[in-house]
Amino acid sequence: ESTLRELAAQNGGRHFGTAIAYSPLNSDAQYRNIAATQFSAITHENEMKWESLEPQRGQYNWSQADNIINFAKANNQIVRGHTLVWHSQLPSWLNNGGFSGSQLRSIMENHIEVVAGRYRGDVYAWDVVNEAFNEDGTLRDSIWYRGMGRDYIAHAFRKAHEVDPDAKLYINDYNIEGINAKSNGLYNLVVDLLRDGVPIHGIGIQSHLIVGQVPSTFQQNIQRFADLGLDVAITELDIRMQMPADQYKLQQQARDYEAVVNACLAVTRCIGITVWGIDDERSWVPYTFPGEGAPLLYDGQYNRKPAWYAVYEAL
Ligand code: XIL
Repeated sequence: ESTLRELAAQNGGRHFGTAIAYSPLNSDAQYRNIAATQFSAITHENEMKWESLEPQRGQYNWSQADNIINFAKANNQIVRGHTLVWHSQLPSWLNNGGFSGSQLRSIMENHIEVVAGRYRGDVYAWDVVNEAFNEDGTLRDSIWYRGMGRDYIAHAFRKAHEVDPDAKLYINDYNIEGINAKSNGLYNLVVDLLRDGVPIHGIGIQSHLIVGQVPSTFQQNIQRFADLGLDVAITELDIRMQMPADQYKLQQQARDYEAVVNACLAVTRCIGITVWGIDDERSWVPYTFPGEGAPLLYDGQYNRKPAWYAVYEAL
């Protein structure tokens, strides 16, 4: 029997990845085994975020991030570095530091230098900037935007490219799966960045979706970014439902996963798909969206769900 990673590789050399969390990876053999065998790309679910790496200014905790990098190396997996510049999961010394715009620029550039520098050669692609947009397509009023204006994005990409010239540099966001105000805002920004010679190589489409609501313009949207000469990756796929799950919803979810995989496979430059976790029990969804759950390919006992078989057939 083939694995999901083998099927994706045979289908245009794509990756099929997952987000990994340190704790189950190092305590749960079944989790570890599925992570190693079914997936060819790894994203740290939280361990590469700023608050995890540098909880106190200048004091870095690398052990959990390194542990996951080493797991990926041992299993011949690429790593998607997640994430360098984001408004969320920042350490409090940074959030509450009262820094000026020019201080924020040097803090941001130093962070990119330290983190992307440490993992140079180990990280295939960086989510350089994460979740920069509001739903209406304007830029989010984040600590970075307040400090530097829209230029923070170009500064971040230029610095990342200087530090790791071989890494693919992505901008990553959610609710940009279909053609809508937010993905239009992103599209217009990326056109400007490319015109200005900013080193940006890919669009990360998170794809935190809801059962029955895969946007009909998903493929068309992927295609328009690919037509700019960029790679596109589906970076955080999960498809949640109102709990409790039932057979009807699980079948619809399977068709939804199939639709997402097919939208990617239809576009040559859609180079891979990452699901945001392995199993429903350990997903972020129930904690984040009360009453919703069951968004992944395996249930809490690591049984393959209808969605798993749908992905297998589609790949
Ligand atoms: C989530 C993690 O899955 C949770 O464990 C954590 O508590 C919050 O962040 N978009 C992203 C990811 O880019 O980093 C988020 O991950 C999910 C939404």
